[in-house]
Amino acid sequence: MSEHLTIVDHPLVQHKLTLMRDQGTSTAVFRQLLREISTLLAYEVTRGLAMTTRTIDTPIMEMEAPVLDGRKLALVSILRAGNGLLDGMLDLIPSARVGFVGLYRDEETLRPVQYYCKLPNELDERLVIAVDPMLATGNSSAAAIDLIKEKGAKNIRFLCLLAAPEGVARMKEAHPDVPIVTAALDEKLNEKGYIIPGLGDAGDRMFGTK
Ligand code: URA
Repeated sequence: MSEHLTIVDHPLVQHKLTLMRDQGTSTAVFRQLLREISTLLAYEVTRGLAMTTRTIDTPIMEMEAPVLDGRKLALVSILRAGNGLLDGMLDLIPSARVGFVGLYRDEETLRPVQYYCKLPNELDERLVIAVDPMLATGNSSAAAIDLIKEKGAKNIRFLCLLAAPEGVARMKEAHPDVPIVTAALDEKLNEKGYIIPGLGDAGDRMFGTK
């Protein structure tokens, strides 16, 4: 992947995203749409994976057929909202390894603090796709990528549903080597750090909390 930011403008993705943004969409439908859209985004974020060939026998003849090369890729969910993207991605990449990173914001220093980290082994040999639906300020995403790099990952992509220009700029400054794939680049952040027009709090909408 050479572009730093890829916006997936496929009509199905854009239609589903509009339904998700609508505040009248129920938790159940929001969750179902998130599963569907994450499968479509998984298709885009895995573009250009390394390939090799394997000799197989079709019913007609032997052939050298293309297969994915290298170790199973790793999906890393940035808790908690990242979990909403996992199921749809695993539908498409069922043998992916899965890790979790949890961060909270220290109210005094305002810096992200790690409270949980469990990652697959041999990260240096895998493509790692970090997932979080909302790239807002970019501070927690950049900190999560710091952590994933500290654990050895060298080939990382970042997948989100919505991005704010502020978050994209922060990620580009901190991790210019990490391409971002998103369904939309929204206008900006409001004073509370929400993406506008956005879809509200992604975690609350997918889990039905407030
Ligand atoms: N996180 C969310 O869930 N929504 C936003 O708009 C920004 C960050």
